[in-house]
Amino acid sequence: MYKEIEGFKFIELPRIIDGRDGIISVAEQNRNIPFSIKRVYYIYDLKSDLSVRGMHAHKSLEQVLFCVNGRFELIVDDGYNKNQFKMDTPNLGIYLGPMLWHEMRKFSENCILLVLASDYFNEDDYIRDYSEFLSFIRQKR
Ligand code: TYD
Repeated sequence: MYKEIEGFKFIELPRIIDGRDGIISVAEQNRNIPFSIKRVYYIYDLKSDLSVRGMHAHKSLEQVLFCVNGRFELIVDDGYNKNQFKMDTPNLGIYLGPMLWHEMRKFSENCILLVLASDYFNEDDYIRDYSEFLSFIRQKR
């Protein structure tokens, strides 16, 4: 049972299958991706299922996360509710709007996490301290 989290949604990319081996999934900016894509990055070479990534929120960045190979677990927290998702389907992404604390863990071997982002890298956009995140959220209400 998922709890309602604002600024979060599932994004399903098409799966193009034409009789040949293999599947094509396509992400297009301002179409199935709800923003203009300024940056693409991917996380790979994860050597331990005990690794933890993320552990931050963004003040204004929008992102869509995909697990294009393997699997991992994504935790999304809006300061009130927390949801956990099993990411293991290459065409199923998760859109994260601003101010969502997220953590990625339990990476499988060969896991590749692909991220489409609405802006260039900017460390000032990060909130890396959980209690700071909570006080930002409380200020907003
Ligand atoms: P970070 O976003 O904290 O990674 P994760 O959420 O996966 O744990 O970034 C880790 C480091 O990489 C940090 O020093 C910033 C740097 N980095 C860039 O320089 N450019 C980028 O586009 C990203 C995503 C990270």
